[in-house]
Amino acid sequence: MGRIDTLLAALTIEEKIGQLNMVPAGQTVTGPGELRDVHEGIRTGRIGALLNLWGADEVRAVQRLAVEESRLGIPLLIGLDVIHGHRTIFPVPLAEACMFAPDLWEKTARAAAEEAAQDGVAMTFAPMLDVARDPRWGRIVESPGEDPWVASEIAAAKTRGFQGHDLAAADSLAATAKHFCAYGAVTAGREYASAEVSERTLREIYLPPFSAAVAAGTAAIMPAFIDIAGAPMTANAPLLQGWLRGDLGFDGVLISDYNAITELLNHGVAGDLAEAAALALNAGVDIDMTSNAYVRGLPEALRRGLVTVTEIDASVRRVLKLKERLGLFDDPYRRGSAVLHAAKAAKRRELAREVGRRAIVLLTCRAGILPLSPEMRRIALIGPLAAAPGEMLGPWASAGRALSAVSILEGLKAALPQCRINHAPGAAVELCADAEVVVLCLGEAAAMSGEAASRAALGLPGHQRELAEAVFTLGKPVVILLFSGRPLALPWLFERADAVVATWFLGSEAGNAVADVLTGRFNPTARLPVSWPRDVGQVPIFYSQRPTGRPTNEDEHYTSKYLDVPATPQFPFGHGLSYSRFGVLDLRCSPSWVKAGECVEVSATVRNDSQVDGEATLFLFVRDVVASVARPLLELKGVRKIVLAAGQDGQVMWRLPVEALAFIGPRLDPVLEPGRFEIHVGQSADPAEHLTAVIELGRRTEPA
Ligand code: NOJ
Repeated sequence: MGRIDTLLAALTIEEKIGQLNMVPAGQTVTGPGELRDVHEGIRTGRIGALLNLWGADEVRAVQRLAVEESRLGIPLLIGLDVIHGHRTIFPVPLAEACMFAPDLWEKTARAAAEEAAQDGVAMTFAPMLDVARDPRWGRIVESPGEDPWVASEIAAAKTRGFQGHDLAAADSLAATAKHFCAYGAVTAGREYASAEVSERTLREIYLPPFSAAVAAGTAAIMPAFIDIAGAPMTANAPLLQGWLRGDLGFDGVLISDYNAITELLNHGVAGDLAEAAALALNAGVDIDMTSNAYVRGLPEALRRGLVTVTEIDASVRRVLKLKERLGLFDDPYRRGSAVLHAAKAAKRRELAREVGRRAIVLLTCRAGILPLSPEMRRIALIGPLAAAPGEMLGPWASAGRALSAVSILEGLKAALPQCRINHAPGAAVELCADAEVVVLCLGEAAAMSGEAASRAALGLPGHQRELAEAVFTLGKPVVILLFSGRPLALPWLFERADAVVATWFLGSEAGNAVADVLTGRFNPTARLPVSWPRDVGQVPIFYSQRPTGRPTNEDEHYTSKYLDVPATPQFPFGHGLSYSRFGVLDLRCSPSWVKAGECVEVSATVRNDSQVDGEATLFLFVRDVVASVARPLLELKGVRKIVLAAGQDGQVMWRLPVEALAFIGPRLDPVLEPGRFEIHVGQSADPAEHLTAVIELGRRTEPA
């Protein structure tokens, strides 16, 4: 018998359930009594996993209880939300998405894994893959944005980064793709609310990122808190057992969200804990995160015949398998034993600065405002977020420390030693009097986005608008640094400011990254992974709309539009300015007549039409012109970045497999239909600036 079979044969039913039980420890355990209970639970085999604990010594101490003092010595699984960095904090995920850079998405996950594993952690509850199209929802900050193709690329890159080449390595973490699925579709953006999503939209938009995570080998998946049309995801057997385990063959661990199994009672699908536990277990949920529903409900569920020991064994087997894959049986102390390398830590800070500046989106900029002139001597830096290092870490910063983050004030001072930078947090309009430029930091505090942070309005909180208006009346050039975990609907600000820079929450190196962009030491290249609304009434807003029978036409009454705001977003998906100016010329598709199994080579020439070296971003979209189901006006199929010196031309190229033109057909299966497809290449999702070509997909020639 192998190790896992031997253990399964030796475990009592209580110990088996213990392997499925994850409880909070570390900083969330407040009273000494509770900690004693946790220790006792570990010794007696009633607890098999912990979350919210880190630190090599702390983890080693509890691991020792499991390995040396419990009957069978099964090591603990230690999980933590390592979302966008552990000690070194990188930009929040929505900001990272703006980089459109799979290699960097992977690198930051790798760096986070190294740090967290050094702190004894073996599993992260990331990446978050919820496609988000409604900025009222606070968790848009953790999301990859609105597009399923981008989310799928992020899924693969992050899974590779967290898990490394070998899950058993001392610096690898088990990744958890979450939250499965359609959490971003909660009604009216209200946290934890129900989602109404059609089967088609599930398959087209919300499932693909999870299939990408499974293809990349994710060790675990977390069902979302929510229900889809009355079916809570924690008990959603058709999607968990049917689609994930059945269709995709996912054999990793399903871990509930925090307390979610007990919350099946609140959902109104379980009458007591035994029913809740049975629903979750039978749907395939292996680990109960914190709700104690398995410990308290499964024995009774067994007595009532609601679950079988075979089902429990299947879950225990998956959990033990994960512990084995993580190398925990061979050396339970492997994580947390590594020697800290100062040089590696310095490299991670460099990486944080690099991704920080690559995540900054230049939303608007009047000619000559940015970068700041080297002649500049007097700057007024206004706003409470200007000297708030802790805020720069964003709403979910793991073990990141406020004191180790660089504030905007510090970053600017370091970058502009020749300048006098006068700073005031609030209404210090007089401070601006002799300034050559005012840098005004506006936006949300970090805690205004994230979990349980939905907002009904998308404006600036408090009295910030009054502050901005007062500054504008001075007639000085005003650069806005806009901090937020979501797009904010501020048309008046975009109209009046000389430049608006979306700085999100950029992490440990925020101040340096912002200074790099403001001074021109780094030429911005980030692009929006979401359509930015003009008004909250436009949400959910996303570029891949289906065509309507009455396409938007502002000049015709009976067309799809609003009376009070344009139908278009403030900034389209993919928008982002640079200090350079790029043009796209000469789009070619070869061959222009293709059949299944072939590839289309799409190429375009990009020209840097400016005096400044820079990096352009090109998006490849397709439109299936006539199909058996109305296809979106645009669908993203690829992104390329190209560095071009002033005046230089370059080529971008994609090999687009014909299979990428398949879609979910009328019977909800993938189909590839012959016909005409438009190929669009442009610098954003705004079709007005696309170059377009047409290709024809012919019928498959049957073999003779
Ligand atoms: C609740 C959140 O929804 C989830 O994303 C997170 O991983 C768990 N809490 C654990 O902190």
